[in-house]
Amino acid sequence: MSVHKTNGSKVTIRQLLKMKAEAEKIVCLTAYDVSFAKVLDDAGVDVVLVGDSLGMVMQGKDNTLPVTMDDMVYHSRCVANGLDRALLMVDMPFMSHISPEIALQNAGRLMKESGAQIVKLEGGSEQRDVVNALTLNGIPVCAHLGLQPQRVHKLGGYRVQGREADDAERMLNEAGVLEQAGADALLLECVPADLAKKITDAVSIPVIGIGAGRDVDGQVLVLQDILGITPGRAPKFSHNFMAGAESIQQAVSHFVAAVKTKTFPQDEHIF
Ligand code: KIV
Repeated sequence: MSVHKTNGSKVTIRQLLKMKAEAEKIVCLTAYDVSFAKVLDDAGVDVVLVGDSLGMVMQGKDNTLPVTMDDMVYHSRCVANGLDRALLMVDMPFMSHISPEIALQNAGRLMKESGAQIVKLEGGSEQRDVVNALTLNGIPVCAHLGLQPQRVHKLGGYRVQGREADDAERMLNEAGVLEQAGADALLLECVPADLAKKITDAVSIPVIGIGAGRDVDGQVLVLQDILGITPGRAPKFSHNFMAGAESIQQAVSHFVAAVKTKTFPQDEHIF
C-alpha cells in the first residue's frame, strides 16, 4: 500500500493535488470530538471532516438543518485539538453562506475560532460568487455537489442525483464553474459512478466521493457508519468496518487501507 509521505507534517491542499496527480486515493472520515480525531489521525486518515451530519449523529436530530455556526465552531475546536497530521475540513451549516458577505463572516469564524483549514459548502453554480469571495480572501473551499442534504425538503428526500442526462450535464457544468470560481476540492454525494468519473476527469482539483463510485480521487464516510453505530438504517454506500476488527483503531485502519488499496467501495456500495 502506498501512503503519501508527509514527513509527519500536516496534510495540505497542495498535497491533495499531488495525490490526485499521482493517483493516490485520499482518505476522509468525519469526526466531532478530540478522542475520535486522535484515532483517525493516528490511523493515517488524510482529511478529517467536521460534517453538519453532527446534527444527526451527535444531536439526534432528523436532518442537518438545525445545526448552527456555534455547533460547528464548538465541535471543530474539539477535533482540531486531536489532529497532528490530517487536514481539517469543516462544513458551513444551512443558511450560513447565503451571500458572499455572510459566507465571509461565517467561514472566517471557522478558520479563526476553530482551526478549519478548508470549509465545505453545499450548492452548485449559484455559489460561484461565494466561492470566489472566500478563496480570494484566502479561505480554501470544497464545493459539495450531488445530493445536498441541506436541501432535503426541496428534494423531497435523500436521493441519488444526476441519473437523468440533463441533470448529469448540469452537474458536470457546475463542477467546472465551481473550479473556475476558485474551489480547491469537490465532494460528490450519491452520484452515479460513471458521472462521478466524468467529473473527476474533467476537473484538475481533487474530487472526494461518498456513494460516488471508485473513480474519484478519494472517499469519505461518516464515522458512525463505518463503526456500525449509525442511528437508523445504514446507507447503501457505507460499510461496517467493525465487523472482524478487534478495536475501533483497527476498524479505522482497515478503512484507510481499503481506500488506499482501492478495495473500497465494492459494487454493492455504488450507484
Ligand atoms: O455532513 C457530513 O458529514 C457530510 C458527509 C456526508 C460528506 O457532508
